[in-house]
Amino acid sequence: MEIVIFESPEEVCSAAAGIIRRALQKKPDQVLGLATGRTMEGVYKNLRGADFSQVKTFNLDEYVGVGADHPGSYAYYMHEHLFNHVQISPSNIHLLDGLAPDPEAECEAFEQAIQRAGGIDIQLLGLGENGHIAFNEPGSSLASRTRFKTLASATLASNKELFPGEELPRHGLTMGVSNILESRLCLLLAYGRRKAQALAYMAEGPVTAMCPASVLQFHPHTIALVDEEAALQLSMVDYYRLSYEEKPERLKYPP
Ligand code: GLP
Repeated sequence: MEIVIFESPEEVCSAAAGIIRRALQKKPDQVLGLATGRTMEGVYKNLRGADFSQVKTFNLDEYVGVGADHPGSYAYYMHEHLFNHVQISPSNIHLLDGLAPDPEAECEAFEQAIQRAGGIDIQLLGLGENGHIAFNEPGSSLASRTRFKTLASATLASNKELFPGEELPRHGLTMGVSNILESRLCLLLAYGRRKAQALAYMAEGPVTAMCPASVLQFHPHTIALVDEEAALQLSMVDYYRLSYEEKPERLKYPP
């Protein structure tokens, strides 16, 4: 796993967007795995105006029982932060339907659509404070696939502001850990002090279902783009900085 430490969250987001823009120049028909959460807002802002006319997208997860028109849904988030600002055909957007009458069939159809698209080229990932990726909560099978998942209390607590005055959805549909491992490139973003412990467990701890993100240690090409605060509990900061500094300029990521 490559860990790149930037000075600020803004630089983290612009580096992620820069990697995606560069990939789009090489191959305009990228299959993108997209994530939601506060972390990604700056990435999508930086991608506005990009040519998504040949891009296919697959979102990681969605709340169960929440429709696309609810402002707390991830479908709503994606339209507000990205899809309304780029040229993308609605038929190329794939979102798990939180209101699907048959969640298992919904998950199976989603898996098949990923296969038909040829797999995910670039998977964006945020990091839960409890070490989750997508809604793969601690204890998730490291071989899991797209499925219904009960949300952990830490996840409910950190996302409650999305549902002001309402009862929080307690379940999600989510791509599994295996789906994430199958993507060709993972871009994991983490910034702020509240992510520091999860980041250290993910990158330097043992691979364990108790920190599902740690499975990325098995992924052939993961880049973790982080800021100074998220990096506070990493033990090999000097090495990560040195490795990045010594990369040829053409292989560096835009700050
Ligand atoms: C949420 C989402 C994840 C997201 C993570 C971090 O529960 N299901 O996909 O990456 O938690 O969210 P945030 O970026 O708001 O910290």
